Amino acid sequence: MAFDLDLIKKLYAGFGAKVETARKVVGRPLTLTEKILYAHLWQGAATQPFERGKSYVDFAPDRVAMQDATAQMALLQFMQAGRDKVAVPSTVHCDHLIVAKENSKVDLDRAVHESSEVYDFLASVSNKYGIGFWKPGAGIIHQVVLENYAFPGGMMIGTDSHTVNAGGLGMIAIGVGGADACDVMAGLPWELKFPKLIGVKLTGKLNGWTAPKDVILKVAGILTVKGGTGAVVEYFGEGATSMSCTGKGTICNMGAEIGATTSTFGYDESMSRYLKATGREEIATAADAIKEHLTADAEVYTNPEKYFDQVIEINLSELEPHLNGPFTPDLATPISKMKEEAAKNGWPTKIEVGLIGSCTNSSYEDISRAVSLAKQVKEKGLKTKAEFTITPGSEQVRFTIERDGFLDIFDQIGAKVFANACGPCIGMWDRMGADKQEKNTIVHSFNRNFAKRADGNPNTYAFVASPELVTALAIAGDLSFNPLTDTLINEKGEKVKLDAPTGNELPPKGFSVDDPGYQAPAADGSGVQVAVSPTSNRLQLLDPFASWEGTDLKGLKLLIKAKGKCTTDHISMAGPWLKFRGHLDNISNNMLIGAVNFFNEKTDLVKNQLTGEYGAVPATQRAYKAANVGSVVVGDENYGEGSSREHAAMEPRHLGVRAVLVKSFARIHETNLKKQGMLGLTFADKADYDKIQEDDTIDINGLTHFAPGKPLELVLHHKDGSSEIIMANHTYNDQQIEWFKAGGALNIIRKQFVK
Ligand code: F3S
Repeated sequence: MAFDLDLIKKLYAGFGAKVETARKVVGRPLTLTEKILYAHLWQGAATQPFERGKSYVDFAPDRVAMQDATAQMALLQFMQAGRDKVAVPSTVHCDHLIVAKENSKVDLDRAVHESSEVYDFLASVSNKYGIGFWKPGAGIIHQVVLENYAFPGGMMIGTDSHTVNAGGLGMIAIGVGGADACDVMAGLPWELKFPKLIGVKLTGKLNGWTAPKDVILKVAGILTVKGGTGAVVEYFGEGATSMSCTGKGTICNMGAEIGATTSTFGYDESMSRYLKATGREEIATAADAIKEHLTADAEVYTNPEKYFDQVIEINLSELEPHLNGPFTPDLATPISKMKEEAAKNGWPTKIEVGLIGSCTNSSYEDISRAVSLAKQVKEKGLKTKAEFTITPGSEQVRFTIERDGFLDIFDQIGAKVFANACGPCIGMWDRMGADKQEKNTIVHSFNRNFAKRADGNPNTYAFVASPELVTALAIAGDLSFNPLTDTLINEKGEKVKLDAPTGNELPPKGFSVDDPGYQAPAADGSGVQVAVSPTSNRLQLLDPFASWEGTDLKGLKLLIKAKGKCTTDHISMAGPWLKFRGHLDNISNNMLIGAVNFFNEKTDLVKNQLTGEYGAVPATQRAYKAANVGSVVVGDENYGEGSSREHAAMEPRHLGVRAVLVKSFARIHETNLKKQGMLGLTFADKADYDKIQEDDTIDINGLTHFAPGKPLELVLHHKDGSSEIIMANHTYNDQQIEWFKAGGALNIIRKQFVK
């Protein structure tokens, strides 16, 4: 569980000099984001300025965090790297596989039973390779990271999009795919396009009913779900320093909902207080010593327009509580306008359930403010109208709020306490009656509210709000209730008004926990056996991919010519396939089943050139593999857009596809293909896409002289006996060509470590 004080001290020791060099190289004052990025260059000190939104830069993150669903493939790949231990401190958190239904104990026991195979695997790999393991029930990855590992000025990657939560403690923390996590754990650099910068100036001070959540709900309304794409959002101003560290975490967490690379805040007193309260006083002391480097240069915040690509200003003193939704987190409605908006749009106003907690909003402050409202139910003779649930973010928070009597108060309003896990936030909510698909409204303090996200019912209207507003609305049972102005009728028929919430930023008696649920790895893991049953459906150890045979590739069959959009979802679907994320062969049965075949406009129906029959894409490819015949996948523009899911590159590699030839690639997918030792090529002339015919056999020539910038020659042998030559470009550099030759980047890494 221990944080790495020595590593942090080492980073801080060189931080100032790196920032100073960067300032000289860039030739102007620096934002906090730039300071952290330049202090984490893989190459060491900066030698040139990077262009925002253009330059691809190699970084050296300080840590890696993984949640259980994504950790499986990341760790299966890491096991192939041949290292004895991870190169940077890393942790695994079991939070995504627990279904919320009855209560924390029953739900947790069921999950441990049903997913024991996955948990045992993750625990044993962690133990073997020096990875900290947080057991099911210990908490949600981002809350546990904030409590234990995040630190000002640090850089972290995590295999979950809300990794960005750690920006609340002044980090640059970014969500990535498992292949990236594997690289960093194996000791390789991590590449990122140097981000653009959005500055958000917070003036005034939060008061009354308004909470940090309302800041990000407002920002989401301004920037929309795409507005932060490719950018880091840096918050500053008196409003920023006056709010709690965990409140900052909430704001950064939901930066994922505006598509931002990440969000961050400068180091301040609130972070120091939080570090001390969570047993990390030494980090606070070390951060104090370099605090001028852990925030932007003064000039930046005085003239933000000069240094950020975009600046937004929000006056917290005037900010109203917001409710965002339904179905999208950027549809922002101030509470005073909700009555009107709900009527206009036909949103059901009866609230069925209020849900607080999740990784976004389960700090002590959040819960204490919510409980101050729950208390008023009895005091004012009210009755809570909606169901109410609490999903604590960590065992430490749960234990502390139980100790302080908060759970008893929630119990009095009939609240259900779910396990310290994702539960209803990720659709792992076995909600009674959800299958009837009735139109209904829920309010929650989570981050996402897309259709079906919470309970699988497409007709559940989910609104996102602060935990205190969720509590007030659950008490009222009415979406159009404005607690700032409206009254409720109590059991005696009297009109009563809820007092504004109050709470404590940190527990007055300190945090407390009996068993935090942490398993430290073995000091020497060499003797630890990794538990994977060879008959498992859900897990499969990976075999290294074969290296290149050293010749040009002849006689490849066209597997599919995909038409139009082909995202990573089309290449490797999610939904029911998620359970096979740790089993490459099983999940490969979804390969390209969503792609549209150019020749018949159908999905998952392609011609098997060996038999002339039409069949599913995975089955056809398996037939080619069995016959020892390679194949080519042809695609359109921006092939592989979407997520950084490495399965979309691993599946074709596993099933024997030799090349993916497209008009253009989404960059991350192209890199993933290269990492897996696959040929990712683009048509030199995009019009050549039209020359590919259904029965083509393809040769790829020039591989024996494969070199950066040198196109390859493809010969298309058509069914009528004619042939055509087309050229294909590629973006492989020298190192990536070595990956191709070795059969994948991991095979190269392994050579370094396996003697
Ligand atoms: Fe889990 Fe929801 Fe957070 S899925 S990690 S609680 S965003």
